[in-house]
Amino acid sequence: MKKQTLLSGIAPSGRLTLGNYLGAIRNWVARQDQYKCFFPLVDLHAVTVRQDPTTFADRCRDFVALYLACGVNPQTSVVFAQSHVAEHCELAWILQCYTQVGELNRMTQYKDKSRRNKGDMNAGLFSYPVLMAADIVLYKADLVPVGEDQRQHLELTRDVAGRFNGLFGDVFPIPEAYIPDSGARVMSLQDPTKKMSKSDTVAANVIALLDDPTDVARKIKRCVTDSGNEIVVREDKPGVSNLLNILAAVTETTTAALENEYVGQGYGRLKSDVADAVIALLEPIQARFSDLRSDELALDAMLAAGALEAGKTARRTVQEVHGALGFIPKSSRVGPRA
Ligand code: TYM
Repeated sequence: MKKQTLLSGIAPSGRLTLGNYLGAIRNWVARQDQYKCFFPLVDLHAVTVRQDPTTFADRCRDFVALYLACGVNPQTSVVFAQSHVAEHCELAWILQCYTQVGELNRMTQYKDKSRRNKGDMNAGLFSYPVLMAADIVLYKADLVPVGEDQRQHLELTRDVAGRFNGLFGDVFPIPEAYIPDSGARVMSLQDPTKKMSKSDTVAANVIALLDDPTDVARKIKRCVTDSGNEIVVREDKPGVSNLLNILAAVTETTTAALENEYVGQGYGRLKSDVADAVIALLEPIQARFSDLRSDELALDAMLAAGALEAGKTARRTVQEVHGALGFIPKSSRVGPRA
């Protein structure tokens, strides 16, 4: 039987965090053998905010090396840079013509970003969910493993793909989001009502995948907990809920099981267990990362091969879309001019 297709990507801004791993990468790796997988590094998404051109390529390579260090297998999955496959932008343009301004106005991430980025409200920030929809349907993805914050963008992708199909026939499968039960929304360590964000400039808020173990232990020890001493998931206890959620995701158990285990225990014990579990998770990833990152030629060659492979599927889809829209087919013959 033909495998279904899975696609997911990360925008290379800031530093990859534990949230990106638990919400996304881990769930890609777990499904890698079951699906035909595409894992773009979505670098075109990162330039909606200013990036330093002298360090951008290095950051992108760090992210790709981390994909691999976390277990993405480039022998079986297609790993590539979005900017190397021009069809992403081509399809995004077409899909923009089937997306309503009102739909984009309702995107909560856009509303947040426009509040924060008052000095630079570029059009890319507004239309970015359509580029994301194009990333997904370009490969006819069936499954898209993401964190909770991407749920609304996935809904938009489904609406736009469904609308296009309604007008032109079944061109795109309607993709499903895969959002895990635990780890889908890892929160900031110092403000657990806010999501842990890779572009957060306050290091104490974030556990980066490349943080060294002493930093990880210190950040978790100092993270904000709540008044009282009960170790439970509850709305008025966002700090403790976040630690339980992290521990459940890292040790692959449920928060309900952990609540039972920690009856009568103090926050100190919970924090030191979370720190130990996170450090044990990160150490092997960091060791693999330093090996992989040191061979830049190999990384770039892998990206080139990935782009070649991704490009074949992408071109086929764009041709199909052009055909559905009634564009003049591009002839492979070049004849004398009339
Ligand atoms: P991005 O780059 O912000 O985040 C990458 C992935 O990490 C997840 N994530 C989290 N999960 C749990 N807790 C957190 N605190 C947390 N922060 C981030 C995100 O949900 C995401 O899965 N628009 C996307 C990138 C993208 C994409 C795509 C994703 C572009 N094209 C196509 C899937 C398919 C984004 O900005 O994610």
